[in-house]
Amino acid sequence: MRRSPAMEQLVEEYGLTLLSGSHFHSEPSPQAFVLWERARRPMCDLIPGPGPLLDIGCANGFFLRCLMEWSPHEIVPYGIDIDSDLLACARTLLACPDNFVVQDLGIGDPLSWFGRKFRTIYWNVGQNLTFDHEQEVGIVPRLRRGLVGSRGSLILGFYEKDVDRSYEKIQRLEQHGLRVRRTAQGLFALFVEIA
Ligand SMILES: C[S@@+](CC[C@H](N)C(=O)[O-])C[C@H]1O[C@@H](n2cnc3c(N)ncnc32)[C@H](O)[C@@H]1O
Repeated sequence: MRRSPAMEQLVEEYGLTLLSGSHFHSEPSPQAFVLWERARRPMCDLIPGPGPLLDIGCANGFFLRCLMEWSPHEIVPYGIDIDSDLLACARTLLACPDNFVVQDLGIGDPLSWFGRKFRTIYWNVGQNLTFDHEQEVGIVPRLRRGLVGSRGSLILGFYEKDVDRSYEKIQRLEQHGLRVRRTAQGLFALFVEIA
């Protein structure tokens, strides 16, 4: 898998901290970046087109940086995260500091976070969320209402070792009336576009 010179330089400069800062933990070897790509790259198949992409829980921003590298579409990166140290890394990595804010996804009106809606929203659903409770299920329509523009997409990512667990969570969302339009699968990762 070939990398652009800019990405080569990034990997050379920051090494495996790019992955640990994205909460992607694997054996410390160059192979780790191959596994990362096999895990995350399939998400690109669901990006509907060029434009702003907001990663909810963007960590150090490396996933966004990779999407910009891998996707055929031109992406303008935005991100929120509750971890201010990781968010500071994202600001450095993506070189557009105003597009990144420290924010808890559960607090406030999502429209007020940036004062705008987006073509693509991505949310990695934490492994602690099961969608067994109405309150958890309610996060999805709230994010969609507040953030997804017309012709926009909300994409959810599930990083479970056992993909059946991801499908169980999706089934629970569907029991609450949410519909899945498309799916893409990576290594220990399942991505779904909500209709
Ligand atoms: C596994 S990382 C995902 C990184 C990247 N988006 C990806 O998919 O590879 C999850 C991130 O979500 C953030 N997070 C957890 N709870 C959050 C919340 N309530 N509001 C905003 N961010 C949150 C964590 O700080 C962490 O950086």
